[in-house]
Amino acid sequence: MSEARKARLGVLLSGRGSNFIAIADAISNGSLTGCEIAVVLSNIADAPGLSAAQQRGLATEVHVSKGVPRAEHDAKMIAALNSHEIDLVILAGYMRVLSPEFIRAFPNRILNIHPSLLPSFPGLHAQQQALDYGAKVAGCTVHFVDEAVDHGVIILQRVVPVEDTDDEAVLSARILEQEHQAYPEAIARVLSGKYATRERRFLKR
Ligand code: GRF
Repeated sequence: MSEARKARLGVLLSGRGSNFIAIADAISNGSLTGCEIAVVLSNIADAPGLSAAQQRGLATEVHVSKGVPRAEHDAKMIAALNSHEIDLVILAGYMRVLSPEFIRAFPNRILNIHPSLLPSFPGLHAQQQALDYGAKVAGCTVHFVDEAVDHGVIILQRVVPVEDTDDEAVLSARILEQEHQAYPEAIARVLSGKYATRERRFLKR
């Protein structure tokens, strides 16, 4: 009997790739099932996450974005994802805003993780924003990507305390630990088929 087809993930990253590694580890240790990483794409040639992917024997592609118009660059990324027959696009520290064309190419099939409890503190330096605001809790959000930045339907959130002695690095590390658990779990929920989106709510069917 043939095994059920695995969902094919396309990971996009620009930096260290610790979320990508957490997802890859969850797949290899069997805690995230029913999917495989089909390709890791980066817009930055020397992104450490890319070497981590190569070391794991995964397919990688670089499409440098610097100096390339957004529509042109996104067209290359879309073509690469399609050529690998991707089911789900996983943004893991991909430091580019996606064009509407990109988002429409994969409707409700792009996930992102953001290091704040959205809708608080979208955008860059979310952890520092939480500290500056005086928030007493912080956390991370895995969400579907829509055409507004850090705005799509929330799949899952994890909360951490903000301690009086925290600086950006300490708070970021506490949140990152939760990110590494939240992202594989969110992917599992999306792939399970047991959840559906109603209005803005991602709920058990
Ligand atoms: C994470 O904090 C994630 O929430 C944000 O970018 C960072 C990426 O880190 N979107 P890494 O490259 O996965 O280590």
